[in-house]
Amino acid sequence: MLKAAVLVSGGGTNLQAIIDAIDSGVITNTKIELVISNNKNAFALERAAKHGIPARCISPRDYNSREQFNEELLAAIESRDIDLVVLAGCLVVIPEILIRRYPNRIINIHPSLIPSFCGTGFYGLKVHEEALKRGVKITGATVHFVDSGTDTGPIILQKAVEVKAGDTPKELQLRVMQEAEWKILPEAINLIANGKIEVVDNKAILK
Ligand code: GRF
Repeated sequence: MLKAAVLVSGGGTNLQAIIDAIDSGVITNTKIELVISNNKNAFALERAAKHGIPARCISPRDYNSREQFNEELLAAIESRDIDLVVLAGCLVVIPEILIRRYPNRIINIHPSLIPSFCGTGFYGLKVHEEALKRGVKITGATVHFVDSGTDTGPIILQKAVEVKAGDTPKELQLRVMQEAEWKILPEAINLIANGKIEVVDNKAILK
């Protein structure tokens, strides 16, 4: 049984997609052991509580230094014997100590087709604003392993989404979430939970 910790910051629609996928059997062999938010007001925390999933807020604001926050975050994850850390709408910079401790065992959902519209400063609505500004006809979402860069780890899954004439950033964000994020994040977790993903030469390979 894969034990997952899900890190969130906001509405938690990606967390909900994971919860629903486990309930429906789309994801097998997996249990969400813990949800952690850096934002105490994140609706994601309510989603976790509603499903009886242990959830807590660990925010950098509550610690005297970033190092103390980083150590608390790592300790919270290690205390549950976690196999996979899932960043689902998580806006916190993941500490190097966590990345080193969980090599190719931290995954992130990014709302574009990496390497487009990613890297420092590209998160949430900003990603879709830039895609519309550039005039791309296709965008989408990417699930990737987290390494010490920003959105640079091995790509696990991607799914394309059509940009429609007249799309606002919000409309495009919702379509990318509905048609891509909420599908490929659960699919990636299921593949990992069932031993179907291997990283070779820094590329995620479907076994
Ligand atoms: C989504 O756009 C997701 O791609 C990004 O964070 C946003 C909110 O996600 N990573 P959620 O509703 O909190 O899962």
